[in-house]
Amino acid sequence: MSDLAKQHAGEYAANLAEDGMLLGLGTGSTAAWAITRLGERMQKEELNVTGVATSRSSLELARQAGIPLEDPSPGRIVDLYIDGADEADDLGRLIKGGGGALLREKIVAIHSQRHIIVIDPSKKVRVLGRAFPLPVEVVPFGHMVTARHIEGATRSRAVLRTVGGEVPFMTDNGGYVYDLHFESGIADPETVAATLASLVGVVEHGLFLGLCDVLVTGTEEGVQTKEIDKTTAKTREA
Ligand code: A5P
Repeated sequence: MSDLAKQHAGEYAANLAEDGMLLGLGTGSTAAWAITRLGERMQKEELNVTGVATSRSSLELARQAGIPLEDPSPGRIVDLYIDGADEADDLGRLIKGGGGALLREKIVAIHSQRHIIVIDPSKKVRVLGRAFPLPVEVVPFGHMVTARHIEGATRSRAVLRTVGGEVPFMTDNGGYVYDLHFESGIADPETVAATLASLVGVVEHGLFLGLCDVLVTGTEEGVQTKEIDKTTAKTREA
């Protein structure tokens, strides 16, 4: 998929930022376009915003773009959270975590007023988890036991994410990631989410249900936007 589609989606979302906003800054190549555009707007339009970064890489990019940063705090909700996704279905349910940032992304997502997801058309799916495996962050201690437990509870095949085939990939929080492969996709995302949330050793999973407010799909020509009715995309997660 062309970079132009991602650029259109990312820049469209960045153009929605208003003076004084606290912005959630997502991770990945589409969110990166939004961060760069925000930096541009701060310079050219004297836009005054602050960011909460969801990963070390988005933190670095935000610093380069000149966006002041802060950590999530109880006193201040994020006004607008802009992030990419690995898959999105018609109800705005998402798989995230391809970049390994799912835990911080979910923390920011649940503390945001408005959550904008920026994708290119290749991310739209009818059934989640058929083409893209579901990332799950686990505690390194006993991770192989946890992985067998996950496989049994979700009827999936859990593959440890590695760097170069041998060394486990480590998240910004010091966790490992298992990518769950479902033979025919995830028929009931709410049940899989609830099951994973109940397992000891699981830190967080990449199903984002009932969190997305707007889906912005970039194309070569521009963007298509879709407001999500969260009542139909309700999550059964606590
Ligand atoms: C990061 O952990 C993911 O949730 C990203 O949001 C996702 O991988 C999207 O990345 P791209 O925009 O690069 O496709």
